[in-house]
Amino acid sequence: MNGVRQLIVDRWDTAREALRQRHLRQALYDAGEVVMADVLVNLHGVEHRDRRRLENRLFRRDTHEHYERVLFPPIVASTLGPHAESGRAELVGLSHQVMMNLAATTAGVDRPRGTAEETDRLYRAMMQFIEGATLAHHRGDRSVVRDRVALALEEFDAEFVAPSVQRRLELIAGLESGRVDESDLPMDVLTTLLRNADDLHLADDVVLRETCFYLLAGAHTSATAFVRTFDHLVSTTDGSDARERARHDDLFLQRCVHETVRLQPSSPIALRRATERVELADGQVVETGDEVTIDLVAANRDPRIFGDDADRFDPDRELPDGIPRWGLSFGSGAHACIGQDLAAGGPPDDGRDRADHLVGLVAVALRSLLDLGARPDPDRPPVIDPDSARGYWSEYPVVLDRPEHLSEHRPAT
Ligand code: HEM
Repeated sequence: MNGVRQLIVDRWDTAREALRQRHLRQALYDAGEVVMADVLVNLHGVEHRDRRRLENRLFRRDTHEHYERVLFPPIVASTLGPHAESGRAELVGLSHQVMMNLAATTAGVDRPRGTAEETDRLYRAMMQFIEGATLAHHRGDRSVVRDRVALALEEFDAEFVAPSVQRRLELIAGLESGRVDESDLPMDVLTTLLRNADDLHLADDVVLRETCFYLLAGAHTSATAFVRTFDHLVSTTDGSDARERARHDDLFLQRCVHETVRLQPSSPIALRRATERVELADGQVVETGDEVTIDLVAANRDPRIFGDDADRFDPDRELPDGIPRWGLSFGSGAHACIGQDLAAGGPPDDGRDRADHLVGLVAVALRSLLDLGARPDPDRPPVIDPDSARGYWSEYPVVLDRPEHLSEHRPAT
C-alpha cells in the first residue's frame, strides 16, 4: 500500500464537476511519459493554459471548414478507392488508415515519398506510441515496452518529424523575409508550435512528443468512433432504414456519431490526482495525493440525465437543456478535447444554414462508406479483440456494392 486512496465517481453531475475541478490534475498517463511527458493533456495550471491558448489558434472554424471541405474528402476517397473496386473492406484497418492520414495532416507530419511503405511505417510508429501512452494498462515488463517505444520515437523523429520541422522552418523564414505568403504555411500543430516555440520555451524533444501526441490523440479515437457508429447503424432493428436515413440526413448521421461516443467513450475513464483537498459534488472528500477515477461510461448513462433507456442507442433521444449529446466523452473543463469540433462537428443548433453546418470528419468518412452501400459481410462476421478490455473490434469485414458512388465531395444534406 502506498497510502494513495482511490475514489470513484460515476454520477453525471459529480463527474462533470470533477473534470472541471482545478485542484485535480491529469494522472492517466503517468506511466506513459516516454511519449506523454510535457504534452498538452499532461500539463497543469499556467503551463497548460499558455500552450492551450497557442494551439487553440489552429482549431478555429476556418481550419475545421478547410479540413472538412477541402483536405479530408480526397483522403477518404483515395483510401476507400481500392476497396470500392474490390467490393470488400475491413473497417478496423481502413478506419485507422483514414484517420491516421487525417491526424498526420493535423499534427504536421509530412510524407514526402507518398508511398504505401512510408504510410505503413508511420502507422506502425503510431501504434507503438499508443502502446507507450497506455503503459499503465500493460501487464508485462514495462521497461521492455518503454525502450521499444523510445527507439520508435527516435526513428519517427529522423524519418518524419525532423524533415517536417526543416520544411516549416524554411517556410517561416520565407514568410519573415517576405518571400512566402501566409497562405503557403500549412495549417497544422507543428507549424503553430514552431512559429511560437521561443515564446513558450519549447525544447525540441517537447515539440517532437507534442507532434506525436496529436498523431495518436486524433487517429485512434476517431477510428474507433467510426467503426462503432457503423455497427450501431447496422444493428438497430430498423437497420437498413437507419443506414439510408444517415446517408441522406447529415444531422442525423452526426447525432449517430454523438450517441455512439456517449455510449462508448474512446477512453472509458478519466483519472485525476488531487493537488489540494477537495470536496466533490456527491460529498466525497478527496485528500491531497488521492486519485479519482471518473467513470465516463457510467456518467454518460446516468438515468437521472439520460432517462431509463440510457443504455439504448437512440440518436433521436430528447435531453434536458445544457446536456451534450456526447455526454462527457470529449471531457470537460480546461482539458476538454481540442479536436472535438474537427472530429464530431459543431452543435446542430449553431444558428447557421444547414449547408454551412460542419458535421465533423467521422461523419464525413461514414457518409462516403454508406454511399458505397456498405453492409456487414454475411460470410465473415465481425470479431471482438479478445485481449481488449475496451471491447475493440479486431476485424470488421464489410461488402461494398455501389462502387460507382465513390465521390470526393458531396454537399451537406
Ligand atoms: C471521436 C474522437 C475523439 C474523442 C472521443 C476524444 C476524446 C478526448 C477526451 C476525453 C479528452 C480529455 C482528456 C482528459 O480530460 O483527460 C481529449 C483531449 C484532447 N484531444 Fe481528443 N478526442 C477525439 C478526437 C480528437 C482529435 C481529432 C484530436 C486532434 C486534432 C484530438 C486532440 C486532443 C487533444 C490535443 C487533447 C488534450 C486537450 C488538453 O489537454 O487541453 N482529439 N480528447
